[in-house]
Amino acid sequence: EKGGYDYFMLKEIAEQPKAVADTLLGRIDASGRLTLDEVRIPEPALREIDKIVIVACGTAFHAGMIAKYAIEHWTRVPCEVELASEFRYRDPILDPRTLVVAISQSGETMDTLMALRHAREQGSKVLAICNTNGSTIPRESDAVLYTHAGPEVAVASTKAFLTQLVACYLVALYLGQVRGTKWGDEIYAVIRELSDISKQVEQVLDTMEPVRELARSLKDKNTVLFLGRHVGYPVALEGALKLKELAYMHAEGFAAGELKHGPIALIEEDLPVVVVVPSPRGRSVLHDKIVSNIQEIRARGARTIVIAEEGDQTVVPYADHLISIPATPTLLQPLVATVPLQVFACELATARGNEVDQPRNLAKSVTVE
Ligand code: F6R
Repeated sequence: EKGGYDYFMLKEIAEQPKAVADTLLGRIDASGRLTLDEVRIPEPALREIDKIVIVACGTAFHAGMIAKYAIEHWTRVPCEVELASEFRYRDPILDPRTLVVAISQSGETMDTLMALRHAREQGSKVLAICNTNGSTIPRESDAVLYTHAGPEVAVASTKAFLTQLVACYLVALYLGQVRGTKWGDEIYAVIRELSDISKQVEQVLDTMEPVRELARSLKDKNTVLFLGRHVGYPVALEGALKLKELAYMHAEGFAAGELKHGPIALIEEDLPVVVVVPSPRGRSVLHDKIVSNIQEIRARGARTIVIAEEGDQTVVPYADHLISIPATPTLLQPLVATVPLQVFACELATARGNEVDQPRNLAKSVTVE
């Protein structure tokens, strides 16, 4: 049942190119337009939406954080992302023109369910992004976009996360398509890149041996930090969450711009710091800023583990370990940048003798608040 792998997690990491492709299947037509028939919310209603609120927990919340960048850029509709467990207790402002997007692999997470019930009581429409057919969250939503990751057995979410990202991009691009934005050309270019992205995920998986080796060499460390900017920031949070839950290590993700506001005090000799570097093309300001962040932490002794686009020479002098990922548009980079972090956490957990598929104290679906 593990298909020759030692753990379900390894199998599920390996299944990601297919999961991503399956989630795109049938949703892009021959002319390169999106056809999301499942989004039963009528197009006029989608044009009226003036706010989007994403609710989710854990890894799904990180997918939501990334979705915010994509939604606001491509649709110009303000988007908030909130932990489902915090959402309804703060009396959020919701009305029929708010679209609430609930992201959940299991479709049974109680916090997310309670958040969507609260939103519907206020008259908002709810779109679920879910991996489990017929589960409670899609049943209680106005519409559902299923991710086609297939069953995810390992407690730590991997392929479900990548497909949640794909679904979020589809929603963002679809809203852009329906509403028409000044990014029309970019939207069609990105749809093309997205339809090809599973090959890039495959390419990352083919180059993971040095990452595994690096992970094993860090097994006696106590702390690993993760830094990112823009969509690399939620990727850093996700890398840290994976390491906590699997390796039981102290792991924290930060927005790289926050370093000087506190976290840089944590940097000491030989502390491993993973840095997610945005593409040097496109938003090059972001790229240059993070390169100087890498210099800053390295000057203070950090052992830098740099995830950067292949061919990016600027980071080479400052990377103690370089992990190359294929070139993608900036907003899509999380689909390739997260994969090495999953492999890293899985291998570190194994090296520390932990049970990879069933980390202590955790359950696959959290059906209590
Ligand atoms: C982390 C993980 C959890 C879940 C969270 C939400 O690897 O698996 O953080 O992402 O419990 O679960 P779902 O997506 O089922 O609502």
